[in-house]
Amino acid sequence: MKDAFGAPQSLLLLGGTSAIGLATARRLIARRTRTVWLAGRPSPELAAAAASLRALGAEVRVVPFDALDTDAHAERLGQVFAEGDVDLVLLAFGVLGDQTRDESDPAAAVRVAQTNYTGAVSAALVCAGALQAQGHGSLVVLSSVAGERGRRADFIYGSSKAGLDVFAQGLGDALYGTGVHVMVVRPGAVRTAGRPDAPLSTTPEAVAGAIELGLRRRSETVWVPGPLRLVASALRHVPRPLHRRLPV
Ligand SMILES: NC(=O)c1ccc[n+]([C@@H]2O[C@H](COP(=O)([O-])OP(=O)(O)OC[C@H]3O[C@@H](n4cnc5c(N)ncnc54)[C@H](OP(=O)(O)O)[C@@H]3O)[C@@H](O)[C@H]2O)c1
Repeated sequence: MKDAFGAPQSLLLLGGTSAIGLATARRLIARRTRTVWLAGRPSPELAAAAASLRALGAEVRVVPFDALDTDAHAERLGQVFAEGDVDLVLLAFGVLGDQTRDESDPAAAVRVAQTNYTGAVSAALVCAGALQAQGHGSLVVLSSVAGERGRRADFIYGSSKAGLDVFAQGLGDALYGTGVHVMVVRPGAVRTAGRPDAPLSTTPEAVAGAIELGLRRRSETVWVPGPLRLVASALRHVPRPLHRRLPV
């Protein structure tokens, strides 16, 4: 259960090696989160992530989870909820893909779509059902500003995030009033390994701080950084001939 200050005591991180997910876990452990489940594909990085959170004093358990193996989601994630209540599920897995390569490799493009959208839909529904059964909890879904509008530079990734974003908004409405809270987080470019720097970029730690604040406020949508909301809103109305020439 959340404590008197509304801070989650237990966290299930889907995407157990995600830079944003781990920054959020570290931040919540520094408050009062005690139990952390890391769900991810078994790897030395996943084991190292678990060890790093244990060193901060959390009880950390690892559960094998592959977004693409949707047939296994109910059983794998069900194991976690069978061990006790989960206050916060953070859906942080996702792949950026390689836009240029993926345009000429439909199978690779499908993997991006299936990981970010189909896999997320499956995992989110499994977790939403379990949260509803326990009668409380938050589901935080990492969307992206890339899902706001199709862009030449990343429309395969962006379209998967657009689908996920709309899904998560609707799920939040479906669960409204049940005690389960769904929050959609839309970061701009986050400065992590493998992702180029960009205007209005942010850091995993800043996203973690925004998630914590959003949870306290029970926000439904969070932009990181905050001013990105206004920029995205303005860009939504830019005519396409102009939009496609913008360096965004
Ligand atoms: N970084 C950004 O600029 C940015 C901006 C906006 C939104 N976001 C979104 O925020 C979320 C977190 O981003 P991040 O930068 O923290 O990610 P990250 O550090 O690149 O980590 C991605 C995570 O996704 C997992 N993953 C990939 N494919 C998977 C699969 N088939 N099954 C299970 N897990 C899988 C990875 O696990 P493995 O260790 O097994 O690969 C890893 O844990 C993502 O959804 C991302 O799209 C990121």
